[in-house]
Amino acid sequence: MSRPIRVLGLGGSMSSPSSSMAALKIALEGAREAGAETSLIDVASLNLPMYSPGEEAITPAIRELNDHVHAADGMLWSSPLYHGAISGLFKNALDWLELLHDYKPPYLSGKVIGLISTAGGAQALQAVNNMEFIVRAMRGWAVPLVAPISRAWTVFDGDGQSKDPKIASQLKMLGQEVTRAAARMRDSA
Ligand SMILES: Cc1cc2nc3c(=O)[nH]c(=O)nc-3n(C[C@H](O)[C@H](O)[C@H](O)COP(=O)(O)O)c2cc1C
Repeated sequence: MSRPIRVLGLGGSMSSPSSSMAALKIALEGAREAGAETSLIDVASLNLPMYSPGEEAITPAIRELNDHVHAADGMLWSSPLYHGAISGLFKNALDWLELLHDYKPPYLSGKVIGLISTAGGAQALQAVNNMEFIVRAMRGWAVPLVAPISRAWTVFDGDGQSKDPKIASQLKMLGQEVTRAAARMRDSA
């Protein structure tokens, strides 16, 4: 029997509680329900330095991040919308994935990515669109279903639960879709 599909969640923010982290956890639940083996990286807890090229800048946390991403079949990304784009914290973590240039296959080749963003206003899709360009640049495959969550302050309670069952179900569906697409991708390799 083949091993379970591995889905890695990457996201969050420096805020506590964080709506982007709450959304990510719900989507990971969906992936788990679809049979995936899931794991979570909270970008805030990595304490990454600003991206800088060169071997001397590479810490064990940076290497671990790259190894973890490389081992995943699918990913869920979740960032808050900051000034019309993803946050600097999240982008810096993605920039550190530049090390995947030297992995085989390189970057996000053959990996399926589900995109989530949370916004204070109505334009959450801006961060999702931003992430879509990045996925493509890194040779990954974004699933067509996305989860842009506008007015996130009305959606999540202090415990990270969604007060809106439709949004919770959309997030879970995204996790399921990533698991399903990652399995297809693996089977066709
Ligand atoms: C620096 C900064 C910039 C922001 N820019 C936007 C924005 O352009 N549009 C918007 O709708 N919300 C914006 N927001 C609100 C956040 O997107 C919103 O609070 C989000 O839910 C935060 O996610 P978090 O709880 O995971 O930190 C901004 C918040 C901060 C702190």
